[in-house]
Amino acid sequence: MEMKKGHMTHDTRTRDNAALEVSIGKLRLKNPVILASGTAGFGKEIKDLIDINKLGAIVTKTITLNKREGNPPPRIVETPSGLLNSIGLDNDGLKDFCFKKVPHLERLKIPVIVSIAGDSTEEFLKLTRELSKIKCVKALEINLSCPNVIHKGTKCRFLAQDKIAVRKIIKKIRKTTSLTLIAKLSPNVTDIGAIAKEAQKAGSDAISLINTYPGMLVDTDTMKPKLGNITGGLSGPAIKPLALKCVWDVYNTVKIPVIGMGGIMDWRDAIEFILSGASAVQVGTANFINPRAPLEIIKGIKEYLGKRKIKSIKSLVGKLRT
Ligand SMILES: Cc1cc2nc3c(=O)[nH]c(=O)nc-3n(C[C@H](O)[C@H](O)[C@H](O)COP(=O)(O)O)c2cc1C
Repeated sequence: MEMKKGHMTHDTRTRDNAALEVSIGKLRLKNPVILASGTAGFGKEIKDLIDINKLGAIVTKTITLNKREGNPPPRIVETPSGLLNSIGLDNDGLKDFCFKKVPHLERLKIPVIVSIAGDSTEEFLKLTRELSKIKCVKALEINLSCPNVIHKGTKCRFLAQDKIAVRKIIKKIRKTTSLTLIAKLSPNVTDIGAIAKEAQKAGSDAISLINTYPGMLVDTDTMKPKLGNITGGLSGPAIKPLALKCVWDVYNTVKIPVIGMGGIMDWRDAIEFILSGASAVQVGTANFINPRAPLEIIKGIKEYLGKRKIKSIKSLVGKLRT
């Protein structure tokens, strides 16, 4: 039967949409594109610009138990190929999150993943217990990798550099909740696969990577660092090849799904991550340049599958032709 140009049957639409579905732990995402933590203002700012419900899921900015002021300004500077930030987990704490942010998040029709961080194990566990009681919270992303804060439980710069600390913390969080757990790792380690393996062993349902790379910039006129905190974390196109390598390494080490991010600006970048082993992707820095980027990425992935007659995005995961 000939179809009118520009008209799709209900069947074709359902099939096209099913082609993009992915699972991460207990989460069922209608497509593999997720908003990355800290880059879309809890979906509140971005909500006026795009229809968030078209995305696979959203990760909130990292919250901590108590309010944190974050680092001194300037906290974000542009580089020729990305952003350098030292926000330092500025947030108003759990109580404020529950009263002010949850009512907005409850209205979303897509899974809400809450990113959490703590100065101590007890702080992580308290956040886990409280967030597990909130209906719209479907998963926790455990931020083990913020380069701008120091955790008391480890001698390392951040938790994700210490595999024993990663194992201990994920194990305790696992015992505290039945929510889907995603361990967010840092690229600033010697062997990221080994760290991911510990998170898997401890009960994490997925691994997300990468957080930013530590970096700094200097103003030659003032002879001062460009960031108030001196150092910060680099994101955006500059880190994409490095992030892809991390995703490939982790994909080849663990059995749980990998969520890839780091410099994904368009659909081709997303496909590169998926071929390298990512079951889903997160988009961060791209939102600052083009808030429609995540939606354009979904469209691009859909067309890529269509053109190549690939039935499901799942069949592309890790299918790099080596
Ligand atoms: C301004 C800014 C704030 C961020 N805040 C957080 C955060 O609160 N928690 C977190 O886990 N990652 C945070 N990130 C890291 C991103 O979620 C992501 O891991 C990283 O930027 C790499 O992806 P991208 O290159 O697509 O931005 C932040 C990144 C930026 C640029």
